[in-house]
Amino acid sequence: MISFEKEKKIFKLDTPNTSYVMSVYADMYLGNLYYGGKIDDADVCYMYRQGSEQIINEGEKSGFMNGFPFEFPTAGMVNSQETCMDIRNSRGQNGIELVYKSHEIYKGKKALKGLPASFGDSCDSIDITLTNERLGIDVVLTYTAFNDVDIITRSVKVINNSSENINITKMLSAALTLDYQEGMKIIDLKGCWSRERHIVYENLHYGSFVNESLRGESGHQTQPFVAVATGNITQTTGEVYAMHFIYSGNFLGKIQINEQDSLRMVMGIHPDTFEWKLEAGDSFQAPEVVLNYSSEGIGQMSRNFHDFYRNHLIRSKYLHEERPVLVNNWEATYFDFTSDKLVDIAREASKRGIEMLVMDDGWFGERNSDDGSLGDWFVNEDKIKGGLKKLSDDVHSLGLKFGIWVEPEMISPKSELYKKHPDWAMQTHHSIPVQARKQLNLDLTNPAVVDYIKNCLKDIMEQATIEYMKWDMNKSLSDYGSEYLPADRQGEVAHRYVLALYEIQEYLVSSYPDLLLENCSSGGARFDPGMLYYSPQIWCSDDMDPVERLSIIEGTALLYPFSTIGAHVSKNTNDILGRTTNMADRAIMALLGTYGYELDITKLTDEEKEAIPDQIKTHKRVEDLVREGDYYRLESYNENHLFDAVEIVSKDKDKVMVVMMQVLCTPCIRDRRIKLQGLNPDYIYVVNGQKLHGSTLMNAGIIVPRPRGDYKATLLEIEKAD
Ligand code: DGJ
Repeated sequence: MISFEKEKKIFKLDTPNTSYVMSVYADMYLGNLYYGGKIDDADVCYMYRQGSEQIINEGEKSGFMNGFPFEFPTAGMVNSQETCMDIRNSRGQNGIELVYKSHEIYKGKKALKGLPASFGDSCDSIDITLTNERLGIDVVLTYTAFNDVDIITRSVKVINNSSENINITKMLSAALTLDYQEGMKIIDLKGCWSRERHIVYENLHYGSFVNESLRGESGHQTQPFVAVATGNITQTTGEVYAMHFIYSGNFLGKIQINEQDSLRMVMGIHPDTFEWKLEAGDSFQAPEVVLNYSSEGIGQMSRNFHDFYRNHLIRSKYLHEERPVLVNNWEATYFDFTSDKLVDIAREASKRGIEMLVMDDGWFGERNSDDGSLGDWFVNEDKIKGGLKKLSDDVHSLGLKFGIWVEPEMISPKSELYKKHPDWAMQTHHSIPVQARKQLNLDLTNPAVVDYIKNCLKDIMEQATIEYMKWDMNKSLSDYGSEYLPADRQGEVAHRYVLALYEIQEYLVSSYPDLLLENCSSGGARFDPGMLYYSPQIWCSDDMDPVERLSIIEGTALLYPFSTIGAHVSKNTNDILGRTTNMADRAIMALLGTYGYELDITKLTDEEKEAIPDQIKTHKRVEDLVREGDYYRLESYNENHLFDAVEIVSKDKDKVMVVMMQVLCTPCIRDRRIKLQGLNPDYIYVVNGQKLHGSTLMNAGIIVPRPRGDYKATLLEIEKAD
């Protein structure tokens, strides 16, 4: 719902439980009045700051500008807090003042050209146009309020109506100005390779907190997310305000408190690697930010994000479908495999109920290690005898689907492609390009490169029957220079790269709508909302150790539904940590995601092989619950360093599962009491053969026996009694 109060020009956006209120002051500046729990339409006027007209006088504008909660703060206006936009005009001057021009309220939501964005019918939108008449620049702020989930989205478009070019030197997508409350905390996700998205709470204080990526992707280290919470924050209590960015490149998130105890949060494309030449008559669309407010703690924030992404961002036809149980050969063989070996794995897998074989890195060019051949997307017939079609046919004849790994955005200096097109690598004239894993990034700003990649993908897809593709990206961006773009557009490389990535993935998923695409970046460095628009699942981490996974899953599920989280049962001993665990425990932990195996099934013991069909049966019993259910965090190993418990409840509250992991067995600790959440208090549930009311399970809880030994996972399945 969006309403407009004409007299004071107050806009009110409502979701089921929240309100967002803005107003135009002195017929000029758009400011934020309120964001939080729902308020009544009749009361909006009381928020209006009376007397602002007098304050905005020529001689005393500075004080007003400094304290005003601008919806879209711009540079050059006495900014003690972060701004969203700056430009350089044709005279080389910076700064831009924007005032209200017009607005339009409409049902539904428009797509953002060339960008991933949320969608839906059950929502209302408003375009508020701000303008700088002298420059001839309009800035359209678009807000959407969803009727089925407590989410508001924002995006921005700049239109150059003048006859002169300008340069946009900074373009963030959203700012939120709130009152600071004593004790507020920042919620952040930090990590590195194999330790992605660990939740960190930090105290908020005067000054700035920055969360940013300059690696050309969301990264292992960061997530395009900022959040502040009140001091009493828990899973079930306290208020939290969050921003999440539907973008997969360099981003800047900032939280600041100024001398007036005003809190500002901003999110957008990182200005350090961004400048955009906006020619007369052209427009620039900045990506979308998701705003999430919960007054019921972190748990409700997570459930808002999960519902929103499932219902309004992921487009894949597989979103609500059971995904095939796969076996991937990466940790089984690394580069050392042939088609015979893969068929052996597929044969054993088919006997155990596995449904798809995925051939990982090493099938093309002369790729027997990670030192070359990226870009040479022709099959290595020494390894894959008879080619992709023969292998895919052999796998299919065993009753399995077939999937393949690609890393299309890269070029190895040691490759046929590099011999022909050294200029296709991202590079600058003054530095030796930075290699990682002996590879460089292709310059996706060059349309010839984009065409080449599309054709390679088409060629792969049309050689054989391929049901699944894992799109990897193992080198962060560096050397932001293009041999293709002119000098005055080099500042556009980082953003144009991301736009081209989206264009190629759009081409792939629209040309092959039945393809199940999984994005991946050296583990989980590209787990972001932008990529979810193209792939319904993303590889979460290379670390499949069931203990390391606990914190990775907690951080990932803070924002993303389990249906998006790539999770496999890996081999023993874990290659990254050297930790030995039981396959049964690893199989329980892998239930929290898209289930698969990543091991050499031919080398398992008979006992382990025989356990697989039952593990798959368990997965199939709970997979719809994992895919569609509501997430509740009961215990956090990340916080207590001993024990973890995740609960998922079906939307109708009939079915419940709890995945627990005792990491360390300690003496003298009694069996644990777990209090469930999110049940229907009046329903009677069957728990381990006992019938108990939902209210009992939530208030008094259940006693869970403490297993003997470390790294012990338990699955508890609960159902409503008939
Ligand atoms: C990184 C991925 O995360 C792994 O799963 C694997 O596909 C390798 N790349 C292959 O190079």
